[in-house]
Amino acid sequence: MDFHVVSCRMIHALHIKDGKATYVSRYVTTSRFKQEEYFGGAKFMKVGDLKGLFGLFMVLTQELRKKLQVLDATYGTGPANTAFIYHHGKLMALSESDKPYVVRILEDGDLQTLGLLEYDQRLKHPFTAHPKVDPFTDEMFTFGYSHEPPYCTYRVITKDGIMLDPVPITIPESVMMHDFAITANYSIFMDLPMLFRPKEMVKNDEFIYKFDPAKKARFGILQRYEKDEKNIKWFELPNCFIFHNANAWEEGSEVILITCRHNNVDLDQVNGNQSDKLEDHGNELYEMRFNMKTGAASQKQLSVSAIDFPRINESYTGRKQRYIYCMILESTVKVNGILKMTGIIKFDLHAKPERSKEHLEVGGNVTGIYDLSPGMFCSEAVFVPKEPGVSGEEDDGYLIFFVHDENTGKSEVNVIDAKTMSADPVAVVELPSRVPYGFHAFFVNEEQLGHQVEW
Ligand SMILES: [Fe+2]
Repeated sequence: MDFHVVSCRMIHALHIKDGKATYVSRYVTTSRFKQEEYFGGAKFMKVGDLKGLFGLFMVLTQELRKKLQVLDATYGTGPANTAFIYHHGKLMALSESDKPYVVRILEDGDLQTLGLLEYDQRLKHPFTAHPKVDPFTDEMFTFGYSHEPPYCTYRVITKDGIMLDPVPITIPESVMMHDFAITANYSIFMDLPMLFRPKEMVKNDEFIYKFDPAKKARFGILQRYEKDEKNIKWFELPNCFIFHNANAWEEGSEVILITCRHNNVDLDQVNGNQSDKLEDHGNELYEMRFNMKTGAASQKQLSVSAIDFPRINESYTGRKQRYIYCMILESTVKVNGILKMTGIIKFDLHAKPERSKEHLEVGGNVTGIYDLSPGMFCSEAVFVPKEPGVSGEEDDGYLIFFVHDENTGKSEVNVIDAKTMSADPVAVVELPSRVPYGFHAFFVNEEQLGHQVEW
Protein backbone atom coordinates (compact mmCIF):
# COMPACT_ATOMS: atom_id res chain seq x y z
CA MET A 1 0.00 0.00 0.00
CA ASP A 2 1.31 3.41 -0.87
CA PHE A 3 -0.51 6.61 -0.09
CA HIS A 4 -0.28 10.17 1.00
CA VAL A 5 -2.63 11.97 3.30
CA VAL A 6 -2.29 15.70 3.03
CA SER A 7 -3.84 18.12 5.46
CA CYS A 8 -3.58 21.92 5.58
CA ARG A 9 -2.53 24.71 6.64
CA MET A 10 0.98 23.51 6.27
CA ILE A 11 0.94 20.33 4.26
CA HIS A 12 1.27 17.34 6.53
CA ALA A 13 1.90 14.24 4.43
CA LEU A 14 2.08 10.61 5.38
CA HIS A 15 3.69 8.25 2.89
CA ILE A 16 3.11 4.56 3.54
CA LYS A 17 4.87 1.91 1.53
CA ASP A 18 5.69 -1.71 2.25
CA GLY A 19 4.41 -1.36 5.81
CA LYS A 20 6.64 1.64 6.61
CA ALA A 21 5.42 5.19 7.17
CA THR A 22 7.21 8.46 6.49
CA TYR A 23 5.83 11.76 7.78
CA VAL A 24 6.73 15.12 6.23
CA SER A 25 5.44 18.64 6.89
CA ARG A 26 6.20 21.50 4.50
CA TYR A 27 4.82 24.95 3.81
CA VAL A 28 3.34 25.49 0.36
CA THR A 29 5.85 28.12 -0.78
CA THR A 30 3.32 30.45 -2.37
CA SER A 31 4.26 33.92 -3.56
CA ARG A 32 2.59 35.20 -0.38
CA PHE A 33 4.68 32.86 1.78
CA LYS A 34 7.95 33.87 0.09
CA GLN A 35 7.24 37.58 0.47
CA GLU A 36 6.19 37.25 4.11
CA GLU A 37 9.27 35.16 4.82
CA TYR A 38 11.38 37.96 3.26
CA PHE A 39 9.72 40.56 5.50
CA GLY A 40 9.79 38.26 8.52
CA GLY A 41 6.07 38.54 9.24
CA ALA A 42 2.49 38.63 7.93
CA LYS A 43 1.98 41.35 5.31
CA PHE A 44 -1.08 40.08 3.39
CA MET A 45 -4.53 40.27 4.95
CA LYS A 46 -6.32 37.16 6.15
CA VAL A 47 -10.05 36.50 5.67
CA GLY A 48 -10.46 36.43 9.46
CA ASP A 49 -9.12 40.04 9.63
CA LEU A 50 -12.02 41.39 7.58
CA LYS A 51 -14.20 42.71 10.37
CA GLY A 52 -15.12 46.26 11.33
CA LEU A 53 -12.81 49.25 10.87
CA PHE A 54 -9.79 47.01 11.30
CA GLY A 55 -10.98 45.07 8.25
CA LEU A 56 -11.08 48.26 6.19
CA PHE A 57 -7.63 49.21 7.47
CA MET A 58 -6.28 45.78 6.39
CA VAL A 59 -7.80 46.10 2.89
CA LEU A 60 -6.43 49.63 2.40
CA THR A 61 -3.01 48.68 3.78
CA GLN A 62 -2.71 45.74 1.39
CA GLU A 63 -3.79 47.88 -1.58
CA LEU A 64 -1.26 50.57 -0.62
CA ARG A 65 1.52 48.01 -0.25
CA LYS A 66 0.70 46.68 -3.74
CA LYS A 67 0.66 50.20 -5.19
CA LEU A 68 4.01 51.04 -3.61
CA GLN A 69 5.32 47.72 -4.93
CA VAL A 70 6.13 46.57 -1.41
CA LEU A 71 3.94 43.54 -2.14
CA ASP A 72 3.72 41.77 -5.49
CA ALA A 73 0.34 40.23 -6.35
CA THR A 74 1.43 39.05 -9.84
CA TYR A 75 1.91 35.46 -8.72
CA GLY A 76 -1.09 35.24 -6.41
CA THR A 77 -1.90 36.38 -2.89
CA GLY A 78 -3.59 33.26 -1.51
CA PRO A 79 -2.32 30.92 1.18
CA ALA A 80 -3.13 27.66 -0.72
CA ASN A 81 -4.26 26.30 2.63
CA THR A 82 -7.72 24.81 2.15
CA ALA A 83 -7.76 21.63 0.08
CA PHE A 84 -6.09 19.59 -2.65
CA ILE A 85 -7.05 18.07 -5.96
CA TYR A 86 -5.11 15.85 -8.36
CA HIS A 87 -5.71 16.27 -12.07
CA HIS A 88 -3.69 15.67 -15.23
CA GLY A 89 -0.52 14.77 -13.34
CA LYS A 90 -0.68 17.74 -11.00
CA LEU A 91 -1.35 17.81 -7.28
CA MET A 92 -2.76 21.27 -6.56
CA ALA A 93 -2.91 23.12 -3.26
CA LEU A 94 -6.01 25.31 -3.29
CA SER A 95 -7.63 28.26 -1.56
CA GLU A 96 -10.73 29.84 -3.07
CA SER A 97 -9.28 33.37 -3.22
CA ASP A 98 -6.45 32.42 -5.57
CA LYS A 99 -5.30 30.17 -8.39
CA PRO A 100 -3.94 26.66 -7.73
CA TYR A 101 -0.35 25.99 -6.68
CA VAL A 102 1.21 22.79 -8.01
CA VAL A 103 2.98 20.67 -5.42
CA ARG A 104 5.19 17.73 -6.34
CA ILE A 105 5.54 14.68 -4.13
CA LEU A 106 9.09 13.40 -4.37
CA GLU A 107 10.20 9.76 -4.34
CA ASP A 108 11.12 9.88 -0.65
CA GLY A 109 7.74 11.41 0.29
CA ASP A 110 9.08 14.97 0.55
CA LEU A 111 7.11 17.85 -0.96
CA GLN A 112 8.15 20.61 -3.32
CA THR A 113 6.07 23.62 -4.43
CA LEU A 114 6.43 24.03 -8.20
CA GLY A 115 4.41 27.21 -8.77
CA LEU A 116 1.15 28.92 -9.68
CA LEU A 117 -1.01 27.12 -12.27
CA GLU A 118 -2.62 29.52 -14.77
CA TYR A 119 -3.47 27.13 -17.63
CA ASP A 120 -1.45 29.01 -20.27
CA GLN A 121 -2.77 32.37 -19.01
CA ARG A 122 -6.37 31.22 -19.56
CA LEU A 123 -7.20 31.37 -15.85
CA LYS A 124 -7.84 34.99 -14.84
CA HIS A 125 -10.04 34.55 -11.77
CA PRO A 126 -9.98 32.73 -8.43
CA PHE A 127 -10.39 28.95 -8.42
CA THR A 128 -12.51 27.10 -5.84
CA ALA A 129 -10.87 24.84 -3.27
CA HIS A 130 -13.43 22.17 -4.25
CA PRO A 131 -13.26 21.40 -7.99
CA LYS A 132 -14.63 18.03 -9.12
CA VAL A 133 -12.84 15.42 -11.21
CA ASP A 134 -15.17 13.09 -13.10
CA PRO A 135 -13.71 9.60 -12.52
CA PHE A 136 -15.30 8.31 -15.73
CA THR A 137 -14.05 11.01 -18.11
CA ASP A 138 -10.98 12.37 -16.23
CA GLU A 139 -12.20 15.92 -16.90
CA MET A 140 -12.12 18.52 -14.13
CA PHE A 141 -14.98 20.94 -13.48
CA THR A 142 -14.37 24.07 -11.47
CA PHE A 143 -15.51 27.62 -10.80
CA GLY A 144 -14.39 30.80 -9.10
CA TYR A 145 -16.38 33.48 -7.36
CA SER A 146 -15.44 37.13 -7.15
CA HIS A 147 -16.75 40.55 -6.11
CA GLU A 148 -17.39 41.77 -9.66
CA PRO A 149 -20.27 40.73 -11.97
CA PRO A 150 -21.07 38.04 -13.07
CA TYR A 151 -19.77 37.04 -9.55
CA CYS A 152 -19.20 33.42 -10.60
CA THR A 153 -17.31 31.88 -13.53
CA TYR A 154 -17.51 28.21 -14.52
CA ARG A 155 -14.66 26.33 -16.24
CA VAL A 156 -14.15 22.88 -17.73
CA ILE A 157 -10.64 21.42 -17.93
CA THR A 158 -10.23 18.56 -20.40
CA LYS A 159 -8.61 15.26 -19.51
CA ASP A 160 -5.52 16.59 -21.30
CA GLY A 161 -5.33 19.57 -18.93
CA ILE A 162 -6.69 22.22 -21.34
CA MET A 163 -8.86 24.88 -19.71
CA LEU A 164 -11.88 25.70 -21.91
CA ASP A 165 -13.39 29.18 -22.29
CA PRO A 166 -15.00 30.84 -19.25
CA VAL A 167 -18.76 30.48 -18.77
CA PRO A 168 -20.24 33.33 -16.70
CA ILE A 169 -22.79 32.30 -14.08
CA THR A 170 -24.63 35.53 -13.33
CA ILE A 171 -26.10 35.89 -9.85
CA PRO A 172 -27.74 38.99 -8.32
CA GLU A 173 -24.91 39.90 -5.96
CA SER A 174 -21.54 38.80 -4.63
CA VAL A 175 -21.76 35.80 -2.28
CA MET A 176 -19.40 33.29 -0.76
CA MET A 177 -19.62 30.08 -2.81
CA HIS A 178 -17.43 27.44 -1.20
CA ASP A 179 -18.42 24.30 -3.11
CA PHE A 180 -20.43 23.03 -6.05
CA ALA A 181 -21.30 19.60 -7.50
CA ILE A 182 -21.42 17.64 -10.75
CA THR A 183 -23.54 14.81 -12.12
CA ALA A 184 -22.92 12.85 -15.34
CA ASN A 185 -24.61 15.65 -17.34
CA TYR A 186 -24.86 18.74 -15.13
CA SER A 187 -22.95 21.18 -12.94
CA ILE A 188 -24.71 22.59 -9.87
CA PHE A 189 -23.99 26.09 -8.53
CA MET A 190 -25.09 27.38 -5.14
CA ASP A 191 -26.24 31.00 -4.78
CA LEU A 192 -26.72 31.05 -1.01
CA PRO A 193 -27.25 34.22 1.03
CA MET A 194 -23.76 34.59 2.53
CA LEU A 195 -23.48 38.11 1.18
CA PHE A 196 -20.35 40.20 0.56
CA ARG A 197 -21.03 43.32 2.65
CA PRO A 198 -17.95 45.56 2.91
CA LYS A 199 -19.97 48.68 3.88
CA GLU A 200 -21.74 46.94 6.76
CA MET A 201 -18.40 45.54 7.85
CA VAL A 202 -17.17 49.06 8.59
CA LYS A 203 -20.49 50.57 9.70
CA ASN A 204 -21.67 47.80 12.03
CA ASP A 205 -18.33 46.27 13.06
CA GLU A 206 -19.33 43.04 11.34
CA PHE A 207 -17.54 40.33 9.38
CA ILE A 208 -17.23 41.10 5.65
CA TYR A 209 -19.57 38.21 4.75
CA LYS A 210 -23.01 38.43 6.34
CA PHE A 211 -25.62 35.70 6.30
CA ASP A 212 -29.14 36.89 5.46
CA PRO A 213 -31.68 34.52 7.07
CA ALA A 214 -34.55 36.10 5.07
CA LYS A 215 -33.30 35.13 1.60
CA LYS A 216 -34.01 31.88 -0.24
CA ALA A 217 -31.30 29.40 -1.16
CA ARG A 218 -30.86 29.23 -4.95
CA PHE A 219 -29.38 26.33 -6.93
CA GLY A 220 -28.43 26.76 -10.58
CA ILE A 221 -28.13 23.65 -12.76
CA LEU A 222 -26.42 23.83 -16.15
CA GLN A 223 -25.64 21.12 -18.72
CA ARG A 224 -21.97 20.72 -18.01
CA TYR A 225 -20.60 21.44 -21.51
CA GLU A 226 -22.74 24.53 -22.19
CA LYS A 227 -20.77 27.45 -23.63
CA ASP A 228 -22.96 30.06 -21.93
CA GLU A 229 -25.50 30.31 -19.14
CA LYS A 230 -28.69 30.88 -21.13
CA ASN A 231 -30.06 27.40 -20.42
CA ILE A 232 -29.22 27.35 -16.72
CA LYS A 233 -32.22 26.38 -14.55
CA TRP A 234 -32.50 28.03 -11.14
CA PHE A 235 -34.33 26.37 -8.25
CA GLU A 236 -35.30 27.79 -4.86
CA LEU A 237 -35.28 26.06 -1.48
CA PRO A 238 -35.71 27.42 2.08
CA ASN A 239 -32.96 29.67 3.41
CA CYS A 240 -29.71 27.89 4.30
CA PHE A 241 -25.96 27.94 3.89
CA ILE A 242 -23.79 25.08 2.67
CA PHE A 243 -20.05 24.72 2.92
CA HIS A 244 -19.74 21.20 1.53
CA ASN A 245 -21.65 18.86 -0.74
CA ALA A 246 -21.18 15.10 -0.51
CA ASN A 247 -22.18 14.17 -4.07
CA ALA A 248 -24.85 14.57 -6.74
CA TRP A 249 -26.35 12.41 -9.48
CA GLU A 250 -29.37 12.06 -11.76
CA GLU A 251 -32.44 9.85 -11.45
CA GLY A 252 -34.74 10.23 -14.47
CA SER A 253 -35.48 13.92 -14.84
CA GLU A 254 -34.37 14.69 -11.26
CA VAL A 255 -31.00 15.88 -10.05
CA ILE A 256 -30.21 14.71 -6.51
CA LEU A 257 -27.78 16.58 -4.27
CA ILE A 258 -26.55 15.12 -0.97
CA THR A 259 -25.22 17.94 1.17
CA CYS A 260 -24.40 19.26 4.63
CA ARG A 261 -26.93 22.01 5.27
CA HIS A 262 -26.70 24.81 7.86
CA ASN A 263 -29.86 26.50 9.09
CA ASN A 264 -27.89 29.60 9.85
CA VAL A 265 -24.22 30.32 10.11
CA ASP A 266 -22.04 33.03 11.63
CA LEU A 267 -18.69 33.08 9.84
CA ASP A 268 -17.24 35.31 12.53
CA GLN A 269 -17.90 32.48 14.97
CA VAL A 270 -16.54 29.84 12.61
CA ASN A 271 -13.37 31.94 12.31
CA GLY A 272 -12.98 31.68 16.07
CA ASN A 273 -13.44 35.40 16.74
CA GLN A 274 -15.94 34.63 19.50
CA SER A 275 -14.61 32.36 22.18
CA ASP A 276 -17.83 31.45 23.96
CA LYS A 277 -19.87 28.35 23.26
CA LEU A 278 -20.66 27.74 19.64
CA GLU A 279 -24.37 27.94 19.11
CA ASP A 280 -25.89 24.96 17.39
CA HIS A 281 -27.22 26.43 14.17
CA GLY A 282 -27.99 23.01 12.75
CA ASN A 283 -25.54 21.29 10.46
CA GLU A 284 -27.25 18.26 9.06
CA LEU A 285 -27.13 15.83 6.16
CA TYR A 286 -29.81 16.58 3.57
CA GLU A 287 -31.07 15.20 0.29
CA MET A 288 -32.18 17.87 -2.17
CA ARG A 289 -34.06 17.05 -5.38
CA PHE A 290 -34.41 19.28 -8.43
CA ASN A 291 -36.77 18.29 -11.22
CA MET A 292 -35.34 19.50 -14.53
CA LYS A 293 -38.71 19.02 -16.31
CA THR A 294 -41.16 20.56 -13.85
CA GLY A 295 -38.84 23.02 -12.06
CA ALA A 296 -39.89 21.62 -8.67
CA ALA A 297 -37.40 21.47 -5.80
CA SER A 298 -37.67 19.63 -2.49
CA GLN A 299 -35.48 18.63 0.41
CA LYS A 300 -35.38 15.91 3.05
CA GLN A 301 -33.41 15.87 6.29
CA LEU A 302 -31.24 12.76 6.68
CA SER A 303 -29.52 13.38 10.03
CA VAL A 304 -29.47 15.47 13.18
CA SER A 305 -26.72 18.00 13.92
CA ALA A 306 -23.74 18.45 13.80
CA ILE A 307 -21.86 16.96 10.87
CA ASP A 308 -19.84 18.32 7.94
CA PHE A 309 -16.78 17.58 5.76
CA PRO A 310 -18.58 14.78 3.87
CA ARG A 311 -16.46 12.31 1.89
CA ILE A 312 -17.38 9.46 -0.41
CA ASN A 313 -15.69 6.79 -2.47
CA GLU A 314 -14.65 9.25 -5.20
CA SER A 315 -14.91 6.59 -7.90
CA TYR A 316 -18.62 7.51 -7.67
CA THR A 317 -18.31 11.29 -8.03
CA GLY A 318 -21.35 12.49 -9.99
CA ARG A 319 -22.96 9.02 -9.94
CA LYS A 320 -25.56 7.38 -7.72
CA GLN A 321 -23.96 5.90 -4.64
CA ARG A 322 -24.75 4.70 -1.16
CA TYR A 323 -22.29 5.59 1.62
CA ILE A 324 -21.36 9.01 3.01
CA TYR A 325 -18.68 9.55 5.67
CA CYS A 326 -18.94 12.80 7.65
CA MET A 327 -16.98 14.33 10.46
CA ILE A 328 -18.84 14.79 13.75
CA LEU A 329 -18.41 18.38 14.92
CA GLU A 330 -17.93 19.25 18.56
CA SER A 331 -20.41 22.01 19.23
CA THR A 332 -20.41 22.31 22.99
CA VAL A 333 -16.78 23.11 23.80
CA LYS A 334 -15.06 26.46 23.65
CA VAL A 335 -14.12 27.23 20.12
CA ASN A 336 -10.46 27.90 19.70
CA GLY A 337 -9.97 29.16 16.19
CA ILE A 338 -11.46 26.18 14.39
CA LEU A 339 -14.30 23.72 14.73
CA LYS A 340 -13.11 20.53 16.34
CA MET A 341 -14.03 17.08 15.09
CA THR A 342 -14.70 14.28 17.55
CA GLY A 343 -15.20 11.33 15.24
CA ILE A 344 -16.54 9.95 11.98
CA ILE A 345 -20.07 8.88 11.12
CA LYS A 346 -21.10 6.62 8.23
CA PHE A 347 -24.47 7.03 6.54
CA ASP A 348 -26.23 4.48 4.34
CA LEU A 349 -28.45 6.32 1.84
CA HIS A 350 -30.41 3.11 1.17
CA ALA A 351 -31.66 3.10 4.79
CA LYS A 352 -34.25 5.43 6.29
CA PRO A 353 -33.27 7.95 8.98
CA GLU A 354 -34.84 7.28 12.38
CA ARG A 355 -37.10 10.25 13.05
CA SER A 356 -37.05 9.83 16.85
CA LYS A 357 -33.30 10.41 17.13
CA GLU A 358 -32.09 13.58 18.87
CA HIS A 359 -28.38 12.72 18.78
CA LEU A 360 -26.02 11.18 16.28
CA GLU A 361 -26.07 7.46 17.08
CA VAL A 362 -25.99 4.14 15.27
CA GLY A 363 -29.35 2.94 13.89
CA GLY A 364 -31.56 3.85 10.95
CA ASN A 365 -29.34 5.28 8.22
CA VAL A 366 -26.32 5.56 10.55
CA THR A 367 -24.41 2.31 10.10
CA GLY A 368 -21.34 3.18 12.14
CA ILE A 369 -19.65 5.79 14.31
CA TYR A 370 -15.93 5.98 15.10
CA ASP A 371 -15.80 8.02 18.30
CA LEU A 372 -12.57 9.43 19.66
CA SER A 373 -11.92 9.46 23.43
CA PRO A 374 -12.57 12.70 25.36
CA GLY A 375 -9.88 15.28 24.64
CA MET A 376 -9.00 13.69 21.30
CA PHE A 377 -9.87 15.39 18.02
CA CYS A 378 -9.22 14.55 14.39
CA SER A 379 -8.80 16.03 10.94
CA GLU A 380 -11.04 15.33 7.98
CA ALA A 381 -10.97 11.64 7.03
CA VAL A 382 -10.34 10.55 3.46
CA PHE A 383 -11.86 7.39 2.04
CA VAL A 384 -9.30 5.17 0.32
CA PRO A 385 -10.77 2.24 -1.64
CA LYS A 386 -9.02 -1.13 -1.62
CA GLU A 387 -9.64 -1.32 -5.37
CA PRO A 388 -10.14 1.67 -7.66
CA GLY A 389 -13.30 1.86 -9.80
CA VAL A 390 -16.89 0.82 -9.22
CA SER A 391 -16.72 -2.95 -9.77
CA GLY A 392 -16.09 -3.81 -6.09
CA GLU A 393 -18.13 -2.99 -3.00
CA GLU A 394 -18.45 0.78 -2.58
CA ASP A 395 -17.42 0.82 1.09
CA ASP A 396 -14.60 -1.72 0.84
CA GLY A 397 -11.74 0.51 1.93
CA TYR A 398 -10.19 2.58 4.67
CA LEU A 399 -10.72 5.93 6.33
CA ILE A 400 -7.47 7.74 7.12
CA PHE A 401 -7.13 10.80 9.36
CA PHE A 402 -4.85 12.65 11.74
CA VAL A 403 -5.68 12.50 15.46
CA HIS A 404 -4.43 14.82 18.20
CA ASP A 405 -4.69 13.97 21.90
CA GLU A 406 -4.99 17.16 23.93
CA ASN A 407 -4.42 15.19 27.15
CA THR A 408 -0.96 13.98 26.15
CA GLY A 409 -0.03 16.42 23.35
CA LYS A 410 0.61 13.48 21.00
CA SER A 411 -0.47 13.22 17.38
CA GLU A 412 -1.00 10.11 15.29
CA VAL A 413 -2.56 8.87 12.07
CA ASN A 414 -5.39 6.36 12.36
CA VAL A 415 -6.45 4.00 9.59
CA ILE A 416 -9.86 2.40 10.16
CA ASP A 417 -12.00 -0.09 8.26
CA ALA A 418 -14.69 1.91 6.42
CA LYS A 419 -16.88 -1.15 5.89
CA THR A 420 -17.15 -2.17 9.55
CA MET A 421 -16.32 1.20 11.21
CA SER A 422 -14.73 -1.01 13.90
CA ALA A 423 -13.41 0.77 17.01
CA ASP A 424 -10.14 -1.16 16.54
CA PRO A 425 -8.05 0.73 14.00
CA VAL A 426 -6.38 -1.22 11.18
CA ALA A 427 -3.22 0.83 11.84
CA VAL A 428 -2.00 3.63 14.08
CA VAL A 429 1.09 5.65 13.13
CA GLU A 430 2.52 7.70 15.98
CA LEU A 431 3.90 11.03 14.79
CA PRO A 432 7.00 12.80 16.10
CA SER A 433 5.31 16.20 16.40
CA ARG A 434 1.95 17.91 16.77
CA VAL A 435 -0.21 18.15 13.65
CA PRO A 436 -2.59 21.13 14.01
CA TYR A 437 -6.28 20.78 13.23
CA GLY A 438 -6.51 21.55 9.54
CA PHE A 439 -9.14 22.02 6.89
CA HIS A 440 -9.24 19.27 4.27
CA ALA A 441 -7.31 16.07 3.57
CA PHE A 442 -6.49 14.28 0.34
CA PHE A 443 -5.14 10.93 -0.86
CA VAL A 444 -2.77 10.33 -3.76
CA ASN A 445 -2.16 6.76 -4.93
CA GLU A 446 1.02 5.24 -6.31
CA GLU A 447 -0.17 5.42 -9.92
CA GLN A 448 -0.86 9.15 -9.58
CA LEU A 449 2.53 9.68 -7.94
CA GLY A 450 4.15 8.02 -10.94
CA HIS A 451 2.28 10.23 -13.40
CA GLN A 452 3.23 13.60 -11.91
CA VAL A 453 4.18 15.98 -14.72
CA GLU A 454 7.51 17.72 -15.11
CA TRP A 455 7.27 21.45 -14.49
FE1 LIG B 1 -14.00 23.27 2.28
